[in-house]
Amino acid sequence: MSTNAEAALEAIMSRGVGAVEVAFVLGTGLGNMADAVENPIAIPYADLPGFPELTVSGHDGQIVFGMQEGVSVAYMQGRSHYYEHGVPNCMEVPLETLALLGTQIVVLTAAVGSLNADFYPGNLILITDHINLNGINPLIGSGGDGSIISLVDAYDQRLARRFKRATLTAGVNVREGVYMWFSGPSFETPAEVKMARMLGADVVGMSVVPEVILARRIGLRTTAVGIVSNFGAGFQGGNPSHVETRQVAAQGAITLKRLIRSFLRVKEAEAQ
Ligand code: HPA
Repeated sequence: MSTNAEAALEAIMSRGVGAVEVAFVLGTGLGNMADAVENPIAIPYADLPGFPELTVSGHDGQIVFGMQEGVSVAYMQGRSHYYEHGVPNCMEVPLETLALLGTQIVVLTAAVGSLNADFYPGNLILITDHINLNGINPLIGSGGDGSIISLVDAYDQRLARRFKRATLTAGVNVREGVYMWFSGPSFETPAEVKMARMLGADVVGMSVVPEVILARRIGLRTTAVGIVSNFGAGFQGGNPSHVETRQVAAQGAITLKRLIRSFLRVKEAEAQ
C-alpha cells in the first residue's frame, strides 16, 4: 500500500471512523445516495492525501462513513476519471485506503449510455462484464507478476445474485449488461456506438473499468450498477449531454437508493 493510503487511513481513523464493510463509489448526479447513512461522518477529499481533486460538476468531493441497515458503509461522493488528467490509476489511493479500512466489497455506480433498445433512460443495469479497447490499463507500469491478474470474476457473481435478490424486495427492475469503457471526455461518435453494439456492449461509460481493475488487483470484491441517462450517440436518436446525464441520473438515484437498501439487508449466505 502507498504512503498516501496509509496517511489517508490515519486521517480517517482520527475522525473516529472504524472498519468499513461495504463501500460505494457514486457517479455523476448520484451524490445524494449518501443521505441514507446514519450518524454520518463526512470527510472532504481535500483532507485525504491522494484522494481526487474533482474538476467536473455533478460530483461532491467527500467520503461519508456511517451505518446503513446494520452494515458499516462508506460512500465516495465523486470519483476521479482518466479523462480529467490522463492518469489511469487515479482511483488507486482511495481504493487502497478502503482496503486498509477492512472493506471487502466495493459497489461502483455510474451514469451510462444505452446501446440496447430494451434499456431506457432511468433503468438500472447490473454490469456483468466489460470491454476495454482503449489501450489503457491502470496496472500498466505497476510492475511485477502481481499486476497480471485474472478478470474472469471481476464482476462478482455472488454480489450479482445478492443484487438480484434485492430487486425482489425493493420492487425494482434491474437489467444485466456488458459495459464498454470509452475514455471521454467527449461522448462517442455514432460510428463508435455502432461498433460497440456490434462488439456486444449494452452500455457505454467513462469510468468503472479502471476502478474495477485496480480494486481486483488490491483484492477487493467488485460489482457495478449503471443508471441509464441517455441512449448512446446516434442510437435511437441519442445525442448525450453532460447536463442531461446529471439530471436523469439524479432521478434514477431514487430507485437505486431503494435497491441499495435491500442489497444491504440481503445477507451473503442467502444469495448463494
Ligand atoms: N457515453 C459515455 N459515457 C456516458 C454516457 C454516454 O452516452 N452517458 C453517461 N455516461
